[in-house]
Amino acid sequence: MLAQLYFKRLPGWWKMLVVAMCMALLACLQAQELQGHVSIILLGATGDLAKKYLWQGLFQLYLDEVGKGYSFSFHGAALTSTKQGQEFIAKVLESLSCPEDMAPGRCAELRGQFQQLSQYRHLRTSEDYMALSKDIEAQLQHKGLQEAGRIFYFSVPPFAYADIARNINSSCRPGPGAWLRVVLEKPFGHDRLSAQQLATELGSFFQEKEMYRVDHYLGKQAVAQILPFRDQNRKALDGLWNRHHVERVEIIMKETVDAEGRTSFYEEYGVIRDVLQNHLTEVLTLVAMELPHNISSSEAVLRHKLQAFRALRGLQKGSAVLGQYQAYSEQVRREQRKPDSFRSLTPTFAGILVHMDNLRWEGVPFLLMSGKALDERVGYVRILFRNQAYCAQNEKRWVADQSQCLPRQIVFYIGHGELGSPAVLVSRNLFRPSLPSKSWKEVEGRPRLHLFGRPLSDYYAYSPVREQDAYSVLISHIFHGRKDSFITTENLLASWVFWTPLLDSLAHEVPRLYPGGAENGHLLDFEFSGTQLRFSQQQLEQLVPGPGSAPKPSDFQVLQAKYRESPLISAWPEELIAKLAEDIEATAVRAVQRFGEFHLALSGGSSPVPLFEQLATRHYGFPWAHTHLWLVDERCVPLRDPESNFQGLQAHLLQHVRVPHYNVHPMPVHLHQRLCAEEDRGAQMYASEISALVTNSSFDLVLLGMGMDGHTASLFPQSPAGLEGTQLVVLTRSPSKPHERMSLSLPLINRAHKVAVLVMGRMKREITMLVSRVGHEPKKWPISGVLPSSGQLVWKDPVKSFCDGDTSFVGRAVMEMVQTIQVL
Ligand code: BG6
Repeated sequence: MLAQLYFKRLPGWWKMLVVAMCMALLACLQAQELQGHVSIILLGATGDLAKKYLWQGLFQLYLDEVGKGYSFSFHGAALTSTKQGQEFIAKVLESLSCPEDMAPGRCAELRGQFQQLSQYRHLRTSEDYMALSKDIEAQLQHKGLQEAGRIFYFSVPPFAYADIARNINSSCRPGPGAWLRVVLEKPFGHDRLSAQQLATELGSFFQEKEMYRVDHYLGKQAVAQILPFRDQNRKALDGLWNRHHVERVEIIMKETVDAEGRTSFYEEYGVIRDVLQNHLTEVLTLVAMELPHNISSSEAVLRHKLQAFRALRGLQKGSAVLGQYQAYSEQVRREQRKPDSFRSLTPTFAGILVHMDNLRWEGVPFLLMSGKALDERVGYVRILFRNQAYCAQNEKRWVADQSQCLPRQIVFYIGHGELGSPAVLVSRNLFRPSLPSKSWKEVEGRPRLHLFGRPLSDYYAYSPVREQDAYSVLISHIFHGRKDSFITTENLLASWVFWTPLLDSLAHEVPRLYPGGAENGHLLDFEFSGTQLRFSQQQLEQLVPGPGSAPKPSDFQVLQAKYRESPLISAWPEELIAKLAEDIEATAVRAVQRFGEFHLALSGGSSPVPLFEQLATRHYGFPWAHTHLWLVDERCVPLRDPESNFQGLQAHLLQHVRVPHYNVHPMPVHLHQRLCAEEDRGAQMYASEISALVTNSSFDLVLLGMGMDGHTASLFPQSPAGLEGTQLVVLTRSPSKPHERMSLSLPLINRAHKVAVLVMGRMKREITMLVSRVGHEPKKWPISGVLPSSGQLVWKDPVKSFCDGDTSFVGRAVMEMVQTIQVL
């Protein structure tokens, strides 16, 4: 009545405005109503994860969304009987909490509503799923609601996925126009193959856009802030976020808990699969990826992330250090009833050195580390910048926000640790960062707190205004369809492609034992050089693990000093690699002094990797500018293929040294867009190149390896190609993949001035013994045909020849056998 009165008195244009506003308001209200109904089905509703995080996350979603136009129903489902399930859920719902700033009365009211909307149901058979769908439909009809969508949250072990997925797909899809979202929890496979199988299976029930694979680290506030931070501080970071300025990146997750109670899971997965393959790798890609122009485009973020995965350089065994807390094996024996003799090889600690092959990050070490039973619980990503400044003033006068000499770092502090909450820290001498002021606030002074070597006051430090659990964040993102916070099938497989070869190569590796907690001391400290990572404290591997038996070098079987009538050097691997590298350098220097150039032919595979790295990092006097590098053999794959020997040479040596491009001679295995076709005459081309450039086709030094079947180069037993005759370079066939190879022939190898045979690994022990006894039988053991013949043949100990100042290298051959520690 009053309103009518006022309305009549208003001037005409005002009336129109008021009518328009009312209509807009009405339209808005209608639109809200039209948003529709969302059913959320939590599978595994009585499990641990549900109890600890998921119910609370669903409640938070309700608190955030209530009154915004959606209606909800929450179905807790499990295999538990209806009565037990109901009791369980009633208890969990009672304990749900509201944000601190919500009035208790309002909290109680909303919790009451949430309880009303939540119910338990026993869900096992396909009939149960059909009944669920019917009930949802009946509810919609009864209340006259439009369906917006259904979310199925799989908080169940992966073996149950397929059945549930089949049931949902066949009888629980929402009606037309409404969406379906299924949420999946890790593990998503065990390696590349199993992940692919699981993905294919799920892909037969759901579309990619319907699947939300959870990595809860993507919901941690500090992690979720990495891209927005990079975006909002583009101007300051543009010039800094690259290899010229970043010294290293550390991505760390330390835990104090151990694996007790979960060893049946842990035995199968271990720390790399449990944490590094997923959480830490996800974080790594957020730091390393190229920043899309529009970070709110999920599609762009995911695409850039995939590119980052693809730029990860393949890992070698030497890129990892592994540990296991001492009580672990005993826990496994107890929980899985294993015999007393059982010893697990599962790592509970891992440090990994990762590199990216792209212009932004080339050469920057990314250290990933995680472990159980460590001295503290903390997670962080630390980007440490190089410091090229010199400060003329006394250190006492250095001021945090002005001195360029103080450390410069940006830290995304994921949580726990000394700080006790998530945070973003930026050294004051870098720049004042911009963070969304609604959700991040400056950390109040804590004068005594030191982080990463500096007092907290040296940083601009921000923490979330309201701390949120990762699952609450992710559930909200699922509801809003923000796919960039989840793992797509492509990204998942890319991650497994990266990790699987390393996991395979480490399968039999013995992890270093550590006592656990503070007692670990410096036992797990590690350091890197080149692409290799090693524990800082050397310790001899246990030969025969027994009480107090520290093995001595003499406990290991050492091969005799003569081998096939020739001097044999056998020593601890590091020492021997060092000697071999020294010898190669001396040979190179001498060849360059005499002839102006040095022709070195190198084998591929993993054995020479430590040698290459030794040469790259310790031999600054090496005459690389006058060295020609040739390949002993090559696999018939494109040169950029990770299997290519040239690729290994590139990764471990070439990219670190300055060899003129025209002195590098890859084998022409890829011509006319095909691999090792006879008609392309690649072998003949290589032979001509050798004849043209290498005097007398005699390499100064050929580095060979030896296979477990006695093969050397790509010359295999029972395959005549290249064992004799006049051909210098041949196409051969290997019994193992890739089968097609190109190789220097035995006669060409034997023309070399010097040959070194490097044999690494305890797997080679038997063949090494065998070959030491056989005669000249290249058809059976091609290695036995290695007898350099140019000039006088003298087998000689390289160390002596050096020390004696002997200069007569031409015509000499040296055979160096590297024997690794034989762990029995
Ligand atoms: C899980 C791992 O994914 O993450 C656990 O399976 C690990 O082994 C946990 O303890 C750590 O998560 P948070 O959130 O406690 O850091």
